Amino acid sequence: TPIAILISGTGSNMQALIKHSTTHPESSYQVKLVISNKADALGLIKAQEAGIMTKVIDHRKFKVRESFDREIDTLLLENNIEIICLAGFMRLLSGWMVQKWHGKILNIHPSLLPSFKGVNAPKQALNAGVKVTGCTVHFVVEEMDDGAIIEQRSVRIETTDDVSTLQYRIKLAEHQIYPTALDQVAKGLASLDDKENKV
Ligand code: GRF
Repeated sequence: TPIAILISGTGSNMQALIKHSTTHPESSYQVKLVISNKADALGLIKAQEAGIMTKVIDHRKFKVRESFDREIDTLLLENNIEIICLAGFMRLLSGWMVQKWHGKILNIHPSLLPSFKGVNAPKQALNAGVKVTGCTVHFVVEEMDDGAIIEQRSVRIETTDDVSTLQYRIKLAEHQIYPTALDQVAKGLASLDDKENKV
């Protein structure tokens, strides 16, 4: 299954997705394209080093969200992409895009949803004083950080944790669950229509 990854930054999840598919011959997906809305995203260099095609589409060129998404959509169709993975992609997708790609867009979020939606989820967890947080792979629907859950992994919060140490351990967990969750979806073993439930 040809997939595309949308990023805005570091791209460590992107790297984990690429690595899994290249080191597991039985992997059911192949990363064909990486799109960033930021020209200086570090992940772009990592993708190029891995031999993956990269494109930059600057969202600031577009007055409305949907025009930006249409440009992404065109690129995806040109490259026969079947599944989209958001990996630190800091733009909300339009209703048009999410409906067009219903059940075909995945996201990873650094909390056990439905807790701590939105930005700075690890910090939110620390501030809330919870002892356990984690990460979630879920299908993307119009509402931010909503949509049926595909996989989760818990991470304990230690008394010595600050945002950066916690974020680090959450990312390690993310890198483990994202590739396997994507594999499930690519194999047709998990689908949004199976579980129309919301988070
Ligand atoms: C991850 O923590 C992910 O959960 C969130 O953004 C971060 C992206 O990190 N959506 P990276 O660019 O994959 O390193």
